[in-house]
Order: sequence, then structure tokens, then C-alpha cells
Amino acid sequence: MSHVTLDFRLNGTGRTELIAGGETLLSLLRHRLDTTSIKQGCRQGTCGSCTVIVDGEPRLACITLAATCDGCTIETAESLPGPGGLHPLQQAFMDHFAAQCGFCTTGMLMAAKALLAANPSPTREDVVDAISGNICRCTGYQPIIEAVLAAAGAGPSGAGQPGGSRPGVV
Ligand code: FES
Ligand code: FES
Repeated sequence: MSHVTLDFRLNGTGRTELIAGGETLLSLLRHRLDTTSIKQGCRQGTCGSCTVIVDGEPRLACITLAATCDGCTIETAESLPGPGGLHPLQQAFMDHFAAQCGFCTTGMLMAAKALLAANPSPTREDVVDAISGNICRCTGYQPIIEAVLAAAGAGPSGAGQPGGSRPGVV
């Protein structure tokens, strides 16, 4: 199997890795680089638990060939906490009891982070759409949606309200 050299940034740190041509981003990040916030669920692109952000866009690591990420900037949930503590999305998930078993949580957080970076004042429908590819096996969608809206400054009721941008959310 052919191998290629991959240069990328992972959570702010430059990396160079030798990868097999068919290696997935999930395999590289979770299994070889111990980026264990990325959860391995379905491995076929249907559950969203492996969601990471590549060059600002949410991507499913299980169906992304690592070789396509040469020169890319990759963010995982390990990057969320800052010097001041939890990221506002993490705090909102805690405040709204948006994690039960937690298996979907990191994928949800990354899908939400990408949403708020592109749209700091999402409607409830925007949030639902953004996490529509992420399955919560504990079916806790309501608190997750409320948490994302709260992090955006839109308030827990959400729909249609203008969400004030909150510094530091993205
Ligand atoms: S593990 Fe990637 S979408 Fe399910
Ligand atoms: S909190 Fe258990 S899968 Fe979502």
C-alpha cells in the first residue's frame, strides 16, 4: 500500500505524519495520534460522532481520507477549552444538561462550533439543521439545541430570536 506524507495543523500544532493512502482521518487522529475526543460510532458516515472541523467546515472523520487533508487546519474537541476554562459551548452543554452518556457530545460540540463560527445568531431551525447529521442515542436533542442557542446568546427558547454575538463563542 502506498504511503504519503501529510502536513497539517491539529488543534494549533503543526504535524507531519506518514500515512497509508487509504487511511481515514478517524484512524489517524483517534487511533494513532490519541485524539480520543473523536468517537468511533458507525464508521460509515451516518451518526456524526466523529465530527471534526477541517478548514472551518464540519467533516465526518470516518469517511474522510486523511490524505485529502494535506495543508489543512483540523480542530477537535480537545481544542475547545481556553486559558479561562471551558469553551462557552461546553459550559452551555453543562448548564443545560445536554450530555447524558456523552458519546455524541464531542461531535455535537464540533458541529455547533462550526455553525456558530459561520452564523453567530442562529435560529432554532439553523441549530436543528446543523446537528441533523449527529445522532444522540440517548435522544437528548432538546437540551442540546437549547445549549447551542444559549451559547450563541439566543436564549433557551430560541426560535426566531436574534442571538447577540458573545465574544469568545467561536
Ligand atoms: S463514526 Fe463517523 S459518522 Fe459515525
Ligand atoms: S448523550 Fe448519549 S448519545 Fe447523546
